[in-house]
This record gives sequence, structure tokens and C-alpha cells, in this order.
Amino acid sequence: MKTIRSVMAKPLKHKYLLLTLPLFIIPFILFFSFGYPHHQTNRNQPPSGDPDLRIRPVYPSYEAYIKQQLKKTLNPKLRQVWTTKDWDRKIQVFTAFFTDLKHKRLLSNSSKALCIGARVGQEVEALKRVGVTDSVGIDLVPYPPLVLQGDFHCQPFENNTFDFEFSNVFDHALYPNKFVDEIQRTLKPGGVCVLHVALYQRPDKYSANDLYSVGPLVTMFHGSELVYTRPVDGFGLDTELVFRKRENKVIRGP
Ligand SMILES: C[S@@+](CC[C@H](N)C(=O)[O-])C[C@H]1O[C@@H](n2cnc3c(N)ncnc32)[C@H](O)[C@@H]1O
Repeated sequence: MKTIRSVMAKPLKHKYLLLTLPLFIIPFILFFSFGYPHHQTNRNQPPSGDPDLRIRPVYPSYEAYIKQQLKKTLNPKLRQVWTTKDWDRKIQVFTAFFTDLKHKRLLSNSSKALCIGARVGQEVEALKRVGVTDSVGIDLVPYPPLVLQGDFHCQPFENNTFDFEFSNVFDHALYPNKFVDEIQRTLKPGGVCVLHVALYQRPDKYSANDLYSVGPLVTMFHGSELVYTRPVDGFGLDTELVFRKRENKVIRGP
């Protein structure tokens, strides 16, 4: 038979449990509020919140992001390789891509062209070799005369400047919306943007985002039409996307 003592013991136990609960919960709240990287992820996440585009939660600040990008781009040994034994090998691959785009009438000798994140400028050199002489690149580190200094989150060009923009560094964008907005701002109406991206392979440790489908790009290129996508094999990047800026696209200032 149950005694009064045993009947009373249960509510008492629950009361003590309730009193000690905050001791377990408060550390969790503090950890998830301040210590957990999702704090940074959410801050950098594109407004769409599309799960197919994820910002890597590894950069505590913009300065830390830039520092990491420069670590590789300024490496003297790598720069030596890129500008010597790597030079022609890469130009040949870019030349094949640009020749194909010329056949498709998406690029012509009279195009004013920009390469975004062009490092030492092999893609710019390739454009010049296929006859697109008015070509230039931008990168955090300049490599004159092929590459000017410029951050792709804030391109150093006027609105409606280029007929053609190429980039294989979308994965390096910490703010993908800004990366795309800047392309749409500096392209002329009717201008063409060609991106090489990795959908099925994970880019390297210098990447700032991971893309899992073309959906997020189609959403961000809201002022352009998607011309086509196709598989490619371009230095670890597997998909080519081509966008054309709409003729009536209204440009917002920088
Ligand atoms: C993987 S490399 C690609 C280089 C070149 N497109 C090629 O294929 O040879 C990425 C480049 O993006 C540049 N980069 C990274 N963040 C950038 C930014 N915010 N603005 C401009 N360039 C950036 C880096 O400096 C680096 O040269």
C-alpha cells in the first residue's frame, strides 16, 4: 500500500528537477547564441535562404576572408608556377571555351570583355588570342596589364560597361548576391555572363560558399534570362551557365 510519504515524494522530485533545469539549459543557450558557427552562417546567408547555396561559416570578418584569399594569390612560389609552366596549359583550355562561345554568337571580336577573379590573367590572354582584344580582368591582386585590382563584390566600373563577363570564381564570393548584382550592374543590356561553377564537386578550402544546384543563381540573376547550362570540365568546375541581361533591365547604382 502507498504511504503518504511515497505519494508526496514524486511532486517533490519534480519540483527539484524543475529548479535545476535552468542549470542545464542556460549553457546550451549561451553556446548556440555565441559559440556556434551558425551565428555567422545566418548573418552571411543570401536573403533567399536557399539551402542549395550555403555560405561557409569560417570567416569571422570580411578582413579574415580577404586575408585567406590573399594567402594563396600572393604566394610567390605559386605565382612563379602560374606565370611559367602553367601559363600556356591553362590558356589553351580557356581558348577552347571562348572559341565555343564565339561559335554560339555569345562573344565576338568587338565585345568589351571582363574576367572576374582572373588572378594572373590566363583567361584574359586567351580572350585576346581568340580576337577579343578589348579584354581585361580584375582580382584582389593586380597583374598588369592583363589584370586590374578590384573586388568583385564592388566592381570598379561604371554601370552598363561590358558586353561579356566571364568568371570561374563564384565559389569565392562571400556575398553571392553582391557578386551577381555587380555583374548585372556592369553588363550592358543584352550583355552576356558566363559562369563556370562546381555543382557536383566541392571546391577547395579557399571557397567561401557551396552551390548544389543552378536554382540560387537563376534566382539571383533576376534581371537576366538563363540562356543555357551545360556540363564542362574546367579546372575542377563542372557546369557552365550562360545568362543574358534583359534589354529593359533597370540598373540600380553601386
Ligand atoms: C581559383 S582562383 C581562380 C583564378 C583564375 N580565374 C584562373 O582560373 O586561373 C580564385 C581567384 O579569385 C580571387 N578572388 C577571391 N576573392 C576575390 C574578391 N573578393 N574580388 C576579386 N577577386 C577575388 C583570388 O585572388 C584568386 O585569384
